[in-house]
Amino acid sequence: MVQCLHIRIATWKVWFLPFLCVSSTDFRSDCPTNWFGPNCQFKCHCNNGCSLTGECTTDGVCEGGYFGYLCQYRDLAKELDQTAPELTDNEDTTCLNDNPQSVSMQMLPGPFSFFRVVVNKARAEAVDLITFELLNFNTKVTCEDGSYSYKTELFIKYFYCMTATSVTHLVLSGNGVPYLCTVNIGGGRNLALKGAFKYSSIFEEGINVAGGVDGEYPRNGIFENSMCFQANMSQEYSFYQVNFQVPVLIDYFLLINRPEPLFLMRMKNFELISIDDMNQTLMRFVEDDPAFSNSIVYKVAHTSNQIPLLSFRVQKHRLNLMDVLQFCEVEAYGDCPEVMVGLDCADLCNFKCVDQRCETSGRCVQCHAGFYGEHCDLECLHCASRNCTRREGYCIDGCLQGYLDNNCTTACYHCMEELCDQRSLTCRRGCKEGVAAIGCTAAASMSAKTDESSSSSFYIVIPLFLIIAVAALLALLWKKKTSPITALE
Ligand SMILES: *[C@@H]1O[C@H](CO)[C@@H](O)[C@H](O)[C@H]1NC(C)=O
Ligand SMILES: *[C@@H]1O[C@H](CO)[C@@H](O)[C@H](O)[C@H]1NC(C)=O
Ligand SMILES: *[C@@H]1O[C@H](CO)[C@@H](O)[C@H](O)[C@H]1NC(C)=O
Ligand SMILES: *[C@@H]1O[C@H](CO)[C@@H](O)[C@H](O)[C@H]1NC(C)=O
Repeated sequence: MVQCLHIRIATWKVWFLPFLCVSSTDFRSDCPTNWFGPNCQFKCHCNNGCSLTGECTTDGVCEGGYFGYLCQYRDLAKELDQTAPELTDNEDTTCLNDNPQSVSMQMLPGPFSFFRVVVNKARAEAVDLITFELLNFNTKVTCEDGSYSYKTELFIKYFYCMTATSVTHLVLSGNGVPYLCTVNIGGGRNLALKGAFKYSSIFEEGINVAGGVDGEYPRNGIFENSMCFQANMSQEYSFYQVNFQVPVLIDYFLLINRPEPLFLMRMKNFELISIDDMNQTLMRFVEDDPAFSNSIVYKVAHTSNQIPLLSFRVQKHRLNLMDVLQFCEVEAYGDCPEVMVGLDCADLCNFKCVDQRCETSGRCVQCHAGFYGEHCDLECLHCASRNCTRREGYCIDGCLQGYLDNNCTTACYHCMEELCDQRSLTCRRGCKEGVAAIGCTAAASMSAKTDESSSSSFYIVIPLFLIIAVAALLALLWKKKTSPITALE
């Protein structure tokens, strides 16, 4: 974890705070199995368990149906039959074995946000030869402004393309297609999980009100007070409201009904309302489609998926005594709004990243020229063309005159005209007079110059600045005092 000043954002409008740094959240060590995070609020979706900070401990493989940063993203391609099943089998080592020109992937319909491809590790360059198209059945769907892509490994690439309308198919083409091994389609993260909530009332003592957002629902066909919610039957109106800590973007909601087939109809006519940070209603959905009624899982698309919301409410007006609000889980799938990062969307992407665009982890997608490191906060000052490698800060086009080493941090101070050779670490025109005698080597000049530049110049510049400032002030005062007298004379 990075050691740095960590500022929590109270409201997302305080974007301009300087000196922000990403993620050094305290993770707890006493969470129940398969939960992690500062409040044990994140569910582990690794195949073989998570570390305290959510990394997959043994093999780095996510549980089927999840992928991406800490395996938190739902995969919309996973639950459907695909023409190329190798691409969704959760194995990066099983790849396409014929040579198709293109591959069409089905996805659970909805607005598109991103997908991830993994190619054969031995043919990593293929990942850059892949292009894509989105379809809503047979109609082409275009990306909103601001599409981008990045690699997290040489052979793993993410493509971001937000759409306002629904997508059913992702079609991949290009010369890289024959080397594809895995394709995941981003279905967001459940941001309601372990969220804060309010509710109207409860049916009986023993109802665990947190059961609506605890990530658990019964699998044995029986309503369970510990995992499900049911409101008080004597009230005509009932609700369950989830409040996010920061505004988030939600693409769709899943409402998991109580499990007994006979009681599924009790959710008929429920309403789902999304609310923004000004307490304005963004979307009001009313369940009134007979074909949709009695579902075990209701999926409600969020039609305002580009606007951050702060809460949502499931509510119901009772039609008869039995059908007050009752369900076993509400889930809200989406992601952080622009520039916010982290699993809880509470951190700000460093403003040193190009377009202030980060991965969920807080790593910059790309650094501005002259910067390097995970968060682009390190500067490669003395590189020619200010172009350096992302990880180490090695200068790509060599050093500015007077510097050497991979990262051009060593000044060749002792060389004649400060001309030195970056590779052989020698002075091109020999050493300055007087230095040769005591042994002019790159090492000698390195220590000489670094000492001077890092410490002594600092101690010289500051007092010098103060002296000048004081002198200027005195001069000003002097002038003010004297000028009227001068005028009189
Ligand atoms: C349900 O509501 C009735 C009437 O308001 C109240 O008397 C009762 O105590 C409530 N039950 C629970 C479990 O809160
Ligand atoms: C938000 O609006 C609802 C009515 O639409 C109101 O009952 C509630 O008190 C408001 N909440 C806040 C925090 O203003
Ligand atoms: C930096 O170097 C890389 C690799 O040679 C090159 O692709 C890129 O265009 C260079 N960027 C600039 C700003 O010169
Ligand atoms: C520059 O590179 C040298 C050796 O390659 C290394 O010792 C030094 O720590 C690097 N400096 C920075 C600021 O990365």
